[in-house]
Amino acid sequence: MSSHATPIPMTSSACGPLTGVAQVPGDKSISHRSLILGAMCVGETTISGLLEGDDVLDTARAMRAFGAEVTDLGGGNWTVYGVGVGGFAEPDGVIDCGNSGTGVRLIMGAMATSPITATFTGDASLNGRPMARVTDPLALFGAQSVGRKGGRLPMTIVGAADPVPVRYVVPVPSAQVKSAVLLAGLNAPGQTVVIEAEATRDHTERMLAGFGAEITVEDTDEGRVITLTGQPELRAQHVDVPRDPSSAAFPVCAALIVPGSDVLVPGIGLNPTRAGLFTTLREMGADLTYENERTEGGEPVADLRARFSPDMKGIEVPPERAASMIDEYPVLSVVASFAQGQTMMRGVKELRVKESDRIDAMAKGLRANGVEVDEGPDWWAVTGLGHGNVPGGATCASQLDHRIAMSFMILGMAANAPVSVDDGAPITTSFPIFEPLMAQLGANVRQDAS
Ligand code: S3P
Repeated sequence: MSSHATPIPMTSSACGPLTGVAQVPGDKSISHRSLILGAMCVGETTISGLLEGDDVLDTARAMRAFGAEVTDLGGGNWTVYGVGVGGFAEPDGVIDCGNSGTGVRLIMGAMATSPITATFTGDASLNGRPMARVTDPLALFGAQSVGRKGGRLPMTIVGAADPVPVRYVVPVPSAQVKSAVLLAGLNAPGQTVVIEAEATRDHTERMLAGFGAEITVEDTDEGRVITLTGQPELRAQHVDVPRDPSSAAFPVCAALIVPGSDVLVPGIGLNPTRAGLFTTLREMGADLTYENERTEGGEPVADLRARFSPDMKGIEVPPERAASMIDEYPVLSVVASFAQGQTMMRGVKELRVKESDRIDAMAKGLRANGVEVDEGPDWWAVTGLGHGNVPGGATCASQLDHRIAMSFMILGMAANAPVSVDDGAPITTSFPIFEPLMAQLGANVRQDAS
């Protein structure tokens, strides 16, 4: 399991132009959902392009523990023989979701309306994250939970034997919470309604419809109202997982700040609930173009072309865009360090409860590397120094957070002195080929002897 017992210190130093094609791995959100929904169908779901990062591999193991037959055919191709909605078996052992908040929260939802009991745990990062945001709505279905103080893992969920459907207004902008409620609603009779004031990534809704569930989405004054009819027979499917825009963010941002770069990142989904970073970068004046725009599997897709952009300006990122780029603020703060003037990011308190407190982790590391950062509970601001003026030279704590580790590796590519992280091991949770992929573009990223 992904407990990262052995830290892997890493250093990134200045490099020549980054050039070439960056084939980033499959989307993490869609990969988790393919395995979980595949396990809730009767029959064989086939998956291609699955992200084989630790987070998703932990979800694959969990689905086996709940009774599904999950087979790795190699090269990102997998099959799942599901047990049907309500067909989960009680696991023999503890379910270890490693570093993955998405994995644990979605799986808790999926099992909470079956008459089984399961105990969940994770690594030190996951065991510090809040779970009440999921167990509160699951209690409305009739599920019970016992965890550590503050609703932390390890935690046991006793699924509802006679679940009732739920109407739930999601109190925080969270696709994980929304998805947990929808997955629980699958095995409740009648209609489960989830309302979100702000749109968050909508993969669960789209995929549930694709798997044959009756689901409607309406935009109202209250927000997005999602209505799911429970106890459907889900149809086993083929899922072709698109490449992950959150992983694409790293080669794209690196190309924008390293002189002379020109990088193509093909086949990236531009679903509006995920593409906020690219819009923001373009507003900052980035030379980032969408080539070969097309529709694949009902989703807008393009090849992203990013070129060195020495004249980017700091901007105010609109708070209503936060959900569509929530995982991309760390790497945006790196780009903002090389822009002219201040980049202000508001409405981002969710960043404080991710794999790490991402505002704190980035602020500490950026300051150590000579960049001024101001912060409040719900906002932070980076004062850009302009191209060629970021000192670098410090070692940053990655705090068991893959996106923090990768963001500081991107910083090192354009800073005046090398940038290190104490532990790059978490990178394998979402982007196992980060190091070779960046090296192939021309970056100098290396693992240090610990
Ligand atoms: C995810 C939702 C987001 C995101 C996470 C993946 C998902 O979390 O940060 O990496 O797949 O649903 P929240 O929904 O908690 O904001």
